[in-house]
Amino acid sequence: MDEKQCRKVADMLEFYQDLGIDEFYVRRSGATRTATVPVQPVTVIPAPSRNSAPKENAPAPGQSSVAFGKRPFPHYTSAAAPQGVAAAGPTAQSMSLFESPSPTTTRQNETLEQIREDLGDCHRCRLAAGRHTIVFGQGNPHAELVFVGEGPGADEDAQGLPFVGRAGRLLNRMIELAGMKREDVYICNVVKCRPPNNRTPLPDEIEVCSPFLLRQIRTIKPRLVCCLGAPAVKTLLGVKEGITKIRGQLYDFQGTKALPTFHPAYVLRNPREEKILREDFQTIVEFLKSPR
Ligand code: URA
Repeated sequence: MDEKQCRKVADMLEFYQDLGIDEFYVRRSGATRTATVPVQPVTVIPAPSRNSAPKENAPAPGQSSVAFGKRPFPHYTSAAAPQGVAAAGPTAQSMSLFESPSPTTTRQNETLEQIREDLGDCHRCRLAAGRHTIVFGQGNPHAELVFVGEGPGADEDAQGLPFVGRAGRLLNRMIELAGMKREDVYICNVVKCRPPNNRTPLPDEIEVCSPFLLRQIRTIKPRLVCCLGAPAVKTLLGVKEGITKIRGQLYDFQGTKALPTFHPAYVLRNPREEKILREDFQTIVEFLKSPR
């Protein structure tokens, strides 16, 4: 290794240490770091397909990828939208999120409190400058169902809790219509700090923040992760198709299942889509009723 490569490795180790990750595994054979794991939908209950609904989450005006201390991150790279979920570790393709020794996992059996502690008064990305509160997540630490949104908005930033504004009220209603209570589930976001003017989080912001999300999911061990909107889908599943096309289908997600659906804020802007959101919640209910 030359000096430049050594520096790179040292930076990478420092970065993971910042995240509280101390264990590393060496890949032995020819596999490349960016090998992709194809994420296949596993349809339990077919959802009606729709062709012409408007596209959710078009890039925000002026949005671009800003060079910001390029960091290695196996699930989401700032270079391009991923084609598949990048391997999280040497054996990621055959092991589950809950079992695998991966760079995004840290101590065995860590608690949400420990993850929150590692996050600290985070200043790992530019979002720290504009936030009032870190919105870590809320809910049942043993939930069967985890919702992952995009990032806190103004209400969430003020209260330090996820989905407490208008979109949150719609999410609460959907949860209740599905026969559950908000306290039964766990709710969090791809990024934990409010992006300015509620813009979509940028790839490098997702890159540094999402390891914490993955650790939360790994700790909770839910049966199902519901991805609310495109950033959650892209971050967790790496699928490139639009949310309109893939929503309502169950995906294998590293030993558990994930279901993409519309973001409640999108449904508030497009009320006719509420019917679809309800259908997807019905799929969630049916899945959770099915035997493990
Ligand atoms: N939108 C999100 O994506 N997350 C929240 O917490 C609130 C609104």
